[in-house]
Amino acid sequence: MAKISKTSAKERIEFLSKELERHNRNYYVMNAPTISDFEFDLLMSELQTLEKMFPEFASQQSPTRHVGSDLETSKARNGMEFEQVAHRYPMLSLGNTYSKEEMYEFFNRITRTVTQKITFSCELKFDGTAICLTYRNGKLVHALTRGDGTKGDDVSRNVANIKSIPTELHGKNIPEEFEIRGEIFMPFDAFERLNAEKREKGEEPFANPRNAASGSLKLQNPQEMKERGLDCVLYHMLGENLPFATHSEAIAAAGSWGLPTSVYSETLDTIEAALEYIGKWDVKRKSLPFATDGIVIKVNELNVQRQLGMTAKSPRWATAYKFKPEQALTPLLSIDYQVGRTGAITPVANLEPVQLSGTVVKRASLHNLDQMQLLDIHIGDYVYVEKGGEIIPKITGVEKSRRPDSATLPDFPAKCPDCGAFLVRDEDEAKHYCPNSDGCPTQIKGRFIHFASRKAMDILAGDATMEQLFDKGYIRHLQDIYRLNKEQLMTLDGWQEKSADNFLESLEKSKEVPFERVLFAIGIRHIGEQNAKMLATHYGSIDALMDAPREDLLQIDGIGDAMADSIMAFFDNPENMATIDELRTRGLKFEIEEDRVRRISDKLAGCTVVISGNYSISREAMKALIEAHGGKNSGSVSGKTTYLLAGEKSGPEKLKKAQTLGVKVISEEDLYRMLEE
Ligand code: IVH
Repeated sequence: MAKISKTSAKERIEFLSKELERHNRNYYVMNAPTISDFEFDLLMSELQTLEKMFPEFASQQSPTRHVGSDLETSKARNGMEFEQVAHRYPMLSLGNTYSKEEMYEFFNRITRTVTQKITFSCELKFDGTAICLTYRNGKLVHALTRGDGTKGDDVSRNVANIKSIPTELHGKNIPEEFEIRGEIFMPFDAFERLNAEKREKGEEPFANPRNAASGSLKLQNPQEMKERGLDCVLYHMLGENLPFATHSEAIAAAGSWGLPTSVYSETLDTIEAALEYIGKWDVKRKSLPFATDGIVIKVNELNVQRQLGMTAKSPRWATAYKFKPEQALTPLLSIDYQVGRTGAITPVANLEPVQLSGTVVKRASLHNLDQMQLLDIHIGDYVYVEKGGEIIPKITGVEKSRRPDSATLPDFPAKCPDCGAFLVRDEDEAKHYCPNSDGCPTQIKGRFIHFASRKAMDILAGDATMEQLFDKGYIRHLQDIYRLNKEQLMTLDGWQEKSADNFLESLEKSKEVPFERVLFAIGIRHIGEQNAKMLATHYGSIDALMDAPREDLLQIDGIGDAMADSIMAFFDNPENMATIDELRTRGLKFEIEEDRVRRISDKLAGCTVVISGNYSISREAMKALIEAHGGKNSGSVSGKTTYLLAGEKSGPEKLKKAQTLGVKVISEEDLYRMLEE
């Protein structure tokens, strides 16, 4: 590193520390990083070097000395919290490098201090989110995220829904108690499915499978989480007096008890063989069905691991060799500002076509104005493009040394490029929005396309048909679809009697679509398929949902402030009410059909039950059970509550309120007894 004065070093250290903390938060808490891992690691390595040169400025709280924290996520994003539990052993990170030379340094440091013959466990570095599982007497007792390394969020309920993680172990010599750590990840196919669904709903897709995995793990709705197709691999066992001499023996034993372990690991004898493993997987990883971001090399002998110990942040017996992301450098020609179905504006860069990992890239997302300013991007700049697991590549940097004199700063539009309305930006949102949801053609067309889509009303019409119907002026409001006649349809390009008949038939059929899908179809901002399902089950009808006070909405798992606000705003809009009225008259379903809630008995008829805490079944299943026996679920304890069903870790506030109001508190067992009687 070039010479640097004391004052500048101090300033730079402070700046880098702040920047790294900010990026840690974007990565671990918001699940939406704004820089690549490579850029992050570069900043971190600069800070490490400066702190070594000027130890007097290295603080105890420096990001070089602690791992990024994923705590807060639930509170920050959903307004809810997971219970935080202390880790028995600190949950560390790994040192990392992008260079073969530094790998040699890692090996040399070890061979200098260790005299005994050692071997190396060479493993894939899975790109997901870290998890720590505790098994006692062969049973999964809890699952914690890494959190801040000393305490993590208890995500046991969600982990129980990951197919590959057994809640019970079978086999020989299972220690009475042990911890096993690993990675929860989302395979590419599940990731693409999820993002396609998100796009269909007009939601922001996840930037990469890692963000998708950690975002999903912190969902408040275990059923929704289950459908996300997460997987797990475990790679580090800890415990007191475990009967193993090597790491690979411990992992092999874990595999024999039914735990998911990596089939790609190899125990190798020499440094050269370990480096060969790295070279081999740098190529082969591209055909794996999940994301990896490097290779982990660990000293295999546990006594040597103990001897080497660890630093404040990472073990000295392991390191990660990380793969540099593939990049291409190409000129930025122009920027388009696209309007989405919900009015969100996304800047999209038009690039001079360039080859990247086997495909030609012409366009790349710039996400939002903040991102453009962060990059200090100019039209005419040479920009670095990367594929981050997403279909649309992203711009990760600007090569300022090649900025031509003619380069110009882009003008972020003040008005919607489609309808001309002034754009708005909410305080906590990164994106600009076109607020003209009832008049902006792109937004209206988007709503029709969504309404007709397979998971919504499943109407036999592609995007182009909906656009044509709109452009011809036949449809303005959702209810207009049901007013269309054959003559109008036959004016569409290439349509004949048969296609018009098929369309009208599918319109008729759509009247059978259940309430939960109708609720999804009408396009309340932020309400996706799962939330619509939950709201439909909870309230039973659109009338009950319309009448629900905001506080009541917030009691529902997964419904946060933004969703509650948009539900309230939706029903406050007279145009939406007119749409619902007409659609109802046309025969669409605005309430759950009685026979869809299968009645088992009337044992809870007339009872209002408030559930609180966790049960042996999911909370959704518990609510369904209550309804199946004729009971009603409610989110908050009031004078009308018959029972408070207190599960494990039930909320102290609800218990207190129940006591004050004299509401009977029953346990899960009490309920089953009542139902059996
Ligand atoms: S060993 C004490 N092995 O990478 C160190 N970590 O960037 C225990 N990771 O925190 C970690 N694959 O979340 C280990 N085969 C592997 C891994 C792995 C992915 C993650 C892990 C770690 C992070 C460090």
